[in-house]
Amino acid sequence: MSAETLTVIDNRTGKRYELPIKHGTIRAMDLRQIKVVEDDFGMMSYDPAFMNTASCQSRVTFIDGDKGILRYRGYPIEQLAERSTYLEVAYLLLHGELPTKAAYEAWAYDITHHTMIHENVKKLMDGFHYDAHPMGMLVSTVAALSTFYPDAKNIHDATSRKKQIHRLIAKMPTLAAFTYRHSLGMPYAYPDNDLSYPGNFLNMLFKTTEVKYKPNPILEKALDVLFILHADHEQNCSANAMRSVGSSHVDPYSAIAGATAALYGPLHGGANEAVLLMLGQIGSKDKVPDFIKRVKAGEGRLMGFGHRVYKNYDPRAKIIKRLAEQVFETTGRNPLLDIAVELERIALQDDYFVKRKLYPNVDFYSGLIYQAMGFSTDMFTVLFAIPRTSGWLAQWEEMLLDSEQKIARPRQVYLGSPSRDYIPVERRG
Ligand code: SDX
Repeated sequence: MSAETLTVIDNRTGKRYELPIKHGTIRAMDLRQIKVVEDDFGMMSYDPAFMNTASCQSRVTFIDGDKGILRYRGYPIEQLAERSTYLEVAYLLLHGELPTKAAYEAWAYDITHHTMIHENVKKLMDGFHYDAHPMGMLVSTVAALSTFYPDAKNIHDATSRKKQIHRLIAKMPTLAAFTYRHSLGMPYAYPDNDLSYPGNFLNMLFKTTEVKYKPNPILEKALDVLFILHADHEQNCSANAMRSVGSSHVDPYSAIAGATAALYGPLHGGANEAVLLMLGQIGSKDKVPDFIKRVKAGEGRLMGFGHRVYKNYDPRAKIIKRLAEQVFETTGRNPLLDIAVELERIALQDDYFVKRKLYPNVDFYSGLIYQAMGFSTDMFTVLFAIPRTSGWLAQWEEMLLDSEQKIARPRQVYLGSPSRDYIPVERRG
């Protein structure tokens, strides 16, 4: 068996270096010994957007992009979507194992009994304009929760971390529902502890004058599966934000606000909203070829397609596509589905997309279900942020407990001006 090392020859000096290889990687810090003269800073790796850089070692989620595999703590996403619940998956992500019956009941009890938010948050929510985007409200109000729970700063205290984790998983749906009710000008509907996690969310969204809201069981189950599918996805943009912001040892509410802000972007979690806007702009199946032509001409992107890691069909998109048909039996078929299916059919046989390994991702079909369930498009990314909260918290806690981690502070390649002297304003220009 050959040595697990990389031999590097620096042709500037002729020197040879043996760099240890572990888990298929070399340590970037091992490059620093490569110098031309002794007082050099030493070599760095340059990797814009971290295309080929592992920022951490993790045991939470595994993705094989070429094979289209996704596992949470080793369990295939297909099995979890079929047999688990979101709250059980959240426990799995955070604890590393599926819960025993007693552990699950205690977990569910704790989450259920933290769903209320301080009444003052309503005043904050009321301050937003009537047409404020729900994601802008969610980023702001989850950050504001840090001011209600100063004990959250005790991030090295496991008991405090556990309480904040319960609070965040429990309160994100409440905040999300309140943003939705605010945008409709409707009174807030409070949590109902008799309902399931998705059922209570539907209650806070859609309850009107009935004494007790009864969620549609088909929609309740569909939402739970969607929550499972969106719970974590290893080192995506928002998880990286959670880890980076959290590495300064700020409280988890502020770190979640940073992660939520990252998710808001149309290249990330905002894509599900962008897909529906795109399908609406295309308008009908017969206009799909013309739209594809414009995308190939570089006049925009096929939103909901492509992925940094998946170079195959996103396994979550497959499950969501099947789920859509089940939901539409209850809600009525979303006519935009025909346009989406035609887009997929044409794209998967077009060399532009095949060559670039662009397949439907998690966002391509999810918005069609959300729209059929009655959500406005600006709520779609909020529906992504709710379940991803457990994934973000699992990544955050793993980072805090990793003895190798410290404050995230990348280096740079400086290409700016060399040293120069100040010029008085009268001599400029
Ligand atoms: C999510 O990372 C995660 O895990 C994220 C996520 C999660 O669960 O957390 O899975 C959730 O964010 C899913 C992705 C949602 N975003 C979209 O659907 C937006 C549309 N897709 C993209 O913009 C793009 O595919 C990304 C952002 C998802 C990935 O971008 P990369 O890896 O940086 O790839 P790239 O932009 O460098 O594109 C490579 C090539 C380019 O063409 P060339 O320059 O080689 O000619 O592919 C083209 C791109 O123009 N391309 C697309 C395209 N996506 C990439 N062309 C048309 N339509 C697209 N959607």
